[in-house]
Formats: sequence, C-alpha cells, structure tokens
Amino acid sequence: MKKALLSGFAALTLLGAAPAAMAEEEYLTSEEATEKYHKYPEHFSFPQSGIMGTFDRAQLQRGFQVYREVCSACHSLERVAFRTLTQIGYSEEEVKALAAEYEVQDGPDDDGEMYYRPAKPSDYIPSPYENEQQSRASNGGAYPPDLSLITKARPHGPDYVASLVGLGYTDEAPEDVQVSDGQYYNPYFHTVLLAMAQPLYEEQVEYADGTPATIEQMAQDVTTFLTWAAEPSMEARKRTGIGVMIFLAILIVVSYVSYKKVWEDVKK
Ligand code: HEC
Repeated sequence: MKKALLSGFAALTLLGAAPAAMAEEEYLTSEEATEKYHKYPEHFSFPQSGIMGTFDRAQLQRGFQVYREVCSACHSLERVAFRTLTQIGYSEEEVKALAAEYEVQDGPDDDGEMYYRPAKPSDYIPSPYENEQQSRASNGGAYPPDLSLITKARPHGPDYVASLVGLGYTDEAPEDVQVSDGQYYNPYFHTVLLAMAQPLYEEQVEYADGTPATIEQMAQDVTTFLTWAAEPSMEARKRTGIGVMIFLAILIVVSYVSYKKVWEDVKK
C-alpha cells in the first residue's frame, strides 16, 4: 500500500515536471540560436565610404545630437574632446556653449577637495558613470562599451553599428530562442541576445534641419558621427593618399620617358 502510494506520487511528480522539461527542450542552445538566426550587417552607402568619400557635416551634427540625447545615457565617448567638434561644423562659440552644459570633475582645490565645474572646450566628453563597476551595476551586469572606437573595433564597423541599432530590434524573438530577463533579441549581435534594450524609436529626436527622424535615419546619422569620432583625420588621410597616387603616376611617366631617352643611342 505504501509502495503503491509512493509510486503514484512519483508518477504525479513526473507528470507535473514533464511539460516544464519539454518546454526547456524546445529552446535552442546559444550556439544553435546563433547558427540559425545570426545575420551579417547590411551594407549602407555612407557618404564617407570609398576612397573619395567625405563626411556630410549636417549628418555629423545630427549624429552627435542622437549620441547626446540617446546613447550618452549609457555609453561614454572618452576620446572625444569638445574642442574637436569645430571639425564637424560647430563654431567656437557653439562649442563653448555645448561644453558648458556638462559638468566635469576637477581639483583638488586649496582644501584638497575634488569639485565639479562646467566643462570647457579643452575637456573630454564626460562619461555617464563614474567607473566601469557603476556602469555595470546600472545595466544589469553588462558593460556598455565606450563608443569612441567602436566602428573600428568591429568587423564592417559602420555597417554593423547601423544594422544593430537601426534594423536589429524590429523582429520579435523567434519562439525557439530563450530570452531571459534583461536580455534582448537582436540578430546582428554575435550571440543574437544582448543586454542593450532597443535604444531608438521613431521621432525620438527632433532634428533642427527638418530631416525626418526615422529609426534608420538616426541609426545612420549616429554611425556616421561615431565613424568620425574613431578617425577624425579620415578626410585628410584620403586626400594625402590621392595626392601620393597622382605623384607616383607622374613619376612613372617621367622615369619611363627618361629611361627611353638615356638608352636611345645604345639600342641603335
Ligand atoms: C539604456 C542603456 C543604453 C543605451 C541608451 C544605449 N546602449 Fe548601447 N549598449 C548598452 C549595453 C548595456 C551594452 C552591452 C550589451 C552586451 O554586451 O550584452 C551596449 C552595447 C552597445 C554596442 C556594442 C555591441 C557589441 O558589438 O559589443 C553598440 C555598438 C551600442 N551599444 C551602440 C549604441 C548606440 C549607437 C546607442 C544610441 C543610439 C546606444 N547604444 C544606446 C546600453 C545602452
């Protein structure tokens, strides 16, 4: 009697456990999910791509606006000093005013205390968090990386960043992908699940130049700005490169003509 009761109990427990166990099995492992759903970045034609490409100043300013109003809540941009923003078309006065909207830590003062003061053009853009630990604590353990070099740090960086934030959050997670708390599905991320919630929504910023702020537009604008941040001297590099090519082409012609001239008599 006791045995029968026990096995009945065991059967019940098994029955109860069965559906949960099945549900577990329906999910793909992380590797399988990546294999099945990971997407390579789309290709965008940015004005700065190609060997002759240059930045569109208006787009750079729109991108900075998106960084400032959206991404800077979580991501730092430590390598960019305010003064360099004159390169993307702001006047020195505008840069001064922009910098003054931020507070940076300075000191120690005569009493040995650190203090905060409005930023100056010579300061670097301050981080949203005091340190990495604080930023992890505010983001469920995940670290929002500094964006200064992100377009260089990932393969096909600009296409990747624009795809990740501009296209990646439109799909619902497929049913066989298990999304835990604090995780979000994005097929452009290398494991298809990341700790960044969708950052961009339609009309999230209001552009002064009247450009419609669609998710894709904001994504491409902020990507262009981050491409500039990662390599502010890109245009100068391309100009030098083209100059060198023209110089070498002329040099080849000159050397060939003089070679002909020098050997003229010998060959006859
Ligand atoms: C609410 C906080 C938050 C906001 C706002 C935010 N991010 Fe993130 N972001 C994160 C976190 C957290 C991670 C780390 C995700 C991970 O590793 O799972 C991350 C990661 C990233 C990555 C790195 C992905 C990789 O390959 O490692 C990029 C690129 C990125 N964010 C771009 C942006 C851009 C561009 C914006 C603004 C449009 C933005 N983020 C706004 C929190 C945020």
